[in-house]
Amino acid sequence: MIKSWSYVEEYKELRKKILESIDRTLKSGQIFFGKELKKFEKTFIKQNNLRYGVAVGSGTDALYIALLGLGIGQGDEIITVSNTAIPTVSAIKSCGASAKFVDIGEDYLINANKIEKYISKNTKAIMPVHLYGQVCDMEKICKIAKKYKLKIIEDCAQAQGAKFKNKYVGSFGDAGCFSFYPTKILGAYGDGGFVSTNSMKLYKKMKRIRFYGIEQNDKKNKFKNKYYANEHGINSRIAEIQFSILNLKLPKVNSLIKRRRKLAKLYTQELKNTSLKLPAEKTNCKNVFYLYVVYHPKRDLIIEKLKKHNIQININYPFPIHKMKAYRNMVSKKCDYLPITEKMTKGIFSLPLYPKLKTSELLKVSKILNRILIRI
Ligand SMILES: Cc1ncc(COP(=O)(O)O)c(C=O)c1O
Repeated sequence: MIKSWSYVEEYKELRKKILESIDRTLKSGQIFFGKELKKFEKTFIKQNNLRYGVAVGSGTDALYIALLGLGIGQGDEIITVSNTAIPTVSAIKSCGASAKFVDIGEDYLINANKIEKYISKNTKAIMPVHLYGQVCDMEKICKIAKKYKLKIIEDCAQAQGAKFKNKYVGSFGDAGCFSFYPTKILGAYGDGGFVSTNSMKLYKKMKRIRFYGIEQNDKKNKFKNKYYANEHGINSRIAEIQFSILNLKLPKVNSLIKRRRKLAKLYTQELKNTSLKLPAEKTNCKNVFYLYVVYHPKRDLIIEKLKKHNIQININYPFPIHKMKAYRNMVSKKCDYLPITEKMTKGIFSLPLYPKLKTSELLKVSKILNRILIRI
């Protein structure tokens, strides 16, 4: 069986170090908000050339905390895409706002040329999603945001380490939101997330929101450190043991990305003569290939045949958000017809790609795909 993703090989390699880190951390007597968290936040910021950042419970929380931090709520509108993971939109809904969906381009990302059409007096922010490890056109998006005085919240859950014109994702907007869900570029052994910002004021606010709205370093009143909410917040802490694992893996991120890029290049080489639409990297972008997404109108037939060869395939994502029962009611007439989104969701599928995927496995998938595609 060639799996779409697995952490087991990685765990086998890191097991000794992971168990040692967990043991050391638990012996420290600090379950939350200890040395491991501090070390992680500092290193993550440095590695991604960010200014400030708060580690939080998940990528969904990162988006939600960024929205709350920017004061977005009831009646506000956020411009984003329908071709994304559910949490992009669930975070918007959770803070009381609604999503305005813009169609994607052939690259599966927000079509920046169409954004202005969707801006209304209620629009507060643009939420570009750097899907599959690619980067949205941040030059155009930043220009529009400036013109209409809109905030930018980047959804970087799939694109940690990706760059646009040599600048890291998460550093363009008012906030950048990352996920450490196990499959992600930097995967925890559980949930985790991170929200970055260029503003000290927003940083401090998001830090309070992470922990019930409490100002943790309020030196003026020691009781207020623990039991006084300065504003409405949530619980979005991560345990120190999780950070001890993330701290082990963080220095390896660049080599993990390198491996992903190498595998992606090999897929492109092996599949270039087929009828599949392959991912293309734009000249001014560095894609981290969280996913290797291809398109074919006969997707379902191809997947069925791959299954017979014991090859696991994912679809990211088979349903556009604006067609889902949970979110249909936030879709206005203007946003209910997204032709490219709808076409793509019917034909996309993701080939197995993760750092521990063996080159021989990739070659096998490619060979079988070549054979299937000649016959259909
Ligand atoms: C594009 C996108 N946004 C947000 C998230 C939410 O991250 P998490 O699963 O860590 O809450 C994910 C993760 O699945 C994602 O892929």
